[in-house]
Amino acid sequence: MTNDTPQRVAIVTGASRGIGRAIATRLASDGRHVVLVARSEGPLAEVMAEIEKAGGSASIAALDVADPAAIQETIDTVVKDLGRLDILVNNAGITRDNLILRMTDDEFIDVMRVNLTGVFAACRAAARPMMRGRFGRVVNIGSTSGVVGNSGQANYAAAKAGVIGLTKTIARELGGKGITANVIAPGFIKTDMTAGLPDEVTKKVMEGMAVKRLGEPEDIAAAVAYVSSDEAGYLTGQTICVDGGLTMA
Ligand SMILES: NC(=O)c1ccc[n+]([C@@H]2O[C@H](COP(=O)([O-])OP(=O)(O)OC[C@H]3O[C@@H](n4cnc5c(N)ncnc54)[C@H](OP(=O)(O)O)[C@@H]3O)[C@@H](O)[C@H]2O)c1
Repeated sequence: MTNDTPQRVAIVTGASRGIGRAIATRLASDGRHVVLVARSEGPLAEVMAEIEKAGGSASIAALDVADPAAIQETIDTVVKDLGRLDILVNNAGITRDNLILRMTDDEFIDVMRVNLTGVFAACRAAARPMMRGRFGRVVNIGSTSGVVGNSGQANYAAAKAGVIGLTKTIARELGGKGITANVIAPGFIKTDMTAGLPDEVTKKVMEGMAVKRLGEPEDIAAAVAYVSSDEAGYLTGQTICVDGGLTMA
């Protein structure tokens, strides 16, 4: 950041644990003010305290990303209070895995509401302030499941594939205004989301990887740090699989 560049303001959803927490911590250590979003306020306050202890700057907003009005209101408030919005990282996500024959309507719809509608609503709310600032970095966290599919994840893969189409469209619509939009698609990362998987599944996944280890949340945070940086202005509309060579899609 040069002296005449203002402090960038970033919103990171799903920032209370796992990948989102690592992204928020990394962006704060890179000098951004980070607005931490998730449903539960307590864990967000802990992440904020950790960031502040390390000399960074953060604030929190507890909301459900499946509620478009709450997202709009929060982004409006951020822009009103902090004067700008430069970086949006849509990371909040859920799984409700089931084979297609057994998948219920609710399992499909719940995942769509959080993983796709929530991303759409945040991108829509962020577009105007980013256009006004003639700068924006939209980073949507997808999944390799959305690129190559995954058994048991018809709902999740459909939502994550939808995020790719949404992101490419934003890249085209807003590219002329200094705004980029990209997807970071993690493979298999050590978080609560993957903690419950049986050991034999984890072992099999690892065997299929070029890099023979599971990913760390920090591996994803490093990629987000780059695509959201000022210097990444010529990178847009891309889906970058950060997956240890699992898919090579
Ligand atoms: N872990 C992996 O291997 C992997 C692989 C590919 C893609 N991903 C993607 O990476 C992202 C993060 O995954 P993770 O493994 O870090 O998950 P995680 O450990 O389960 O954390 C999910 C985060 O999202 C928040 N969240 C969930 N539902 C929300 C909602 N409706 N509104 C607001 N916040 C919500 C959670 O906080 P609250 O519960 O307090 O709301 C939490 O902060 C997701 O989009 C996931 O699909 C993960």
